[in-house]
Amino acid sequence: MSIVNVIAIDGPAASGKSTIAQKVADKLGGYYISTGNMYRAITLFAMQNDIPLDSEIDPDRIDKILSRLELTYRADPAGKLHLIMNSRISDSEIRSPEVAKYVSKVAAMENVRAWMIGRQRELASLGLLIMEGRDIGTVIFPDAKYKFFLTASPEVRARRRLAQSGETAAGSTVASVAKEIALRDEMDSKRKIAPLKKADDAIFIDSSDMTVDEVVDLITSRARRK
Ligand code: DC
Repeated sequence: MSIVNVIAIDGPAASGKSTIAQKVADKLGGYYISTGNMYRAITLFAMQNDIPLDSEIDPDRIDKILSRLELTYRADPAGKLHLIMNSRISDSEIRSPEVAKYVSKVAAMENVRAWMIGRQRELASLGLLIMEGRDIGTVIFPDAKYKFFLTASPEVRARRRLAQSGETAAGSTVASVAKEIALRDEMDSKRKIAPLKKADDAIFIDSSDMTVDEVVDLITSRARRK
């Protein structure tokens, strides 16, 4: 049976998923969830616990911190969800360039993905979810009725990421950001577990030459029609 209260939006880094998903959520009155932020939160927590992330990451040390990590969402009065890491709101810290540098490596770990899967699925009890990530349509909610795969050209994605203040290191250029994004996409799509991949039944959207509103309209109209 298909799941009708989840709109799954997958796609590569900086493809506009978060902006689009938030707007779709506002338009349809649902909850926006960035699953990337949940992987970023684990990465930040690993950094805070001095786990070395440059060399091969020790899965036992990750297991230990996962057993001490509580990751939940709390709705504010306006109905917007905030990611809570052990009772602290972590919305901005997790978007730093340092976290971005290591997140794909952490997200590729088997124990991290196993820990995440149930936590992401249980969010569907909140109501209508607009959930974005890499494996929402393939692994987390393979039975979601509404699935989209959103992408854009590497240059457009680099320009968009550069325009998001605080998410790139000082002195970054379109070329350096494009390189960083390409590296992350390669790691995300080549990993063994839950790689970045379009679900067979997802609608493909190349947003390179589209405005945000055009993409939002496309998704909401498809979701309403299907
Ligand atoms: O969407 P984002 O750029 O914030 O995601 C950060 C990283 O998290 C991304 O490079 C890979 C990982 N990720 C993942 O492995 N699976 C998801 N569903 C979402 C993100």
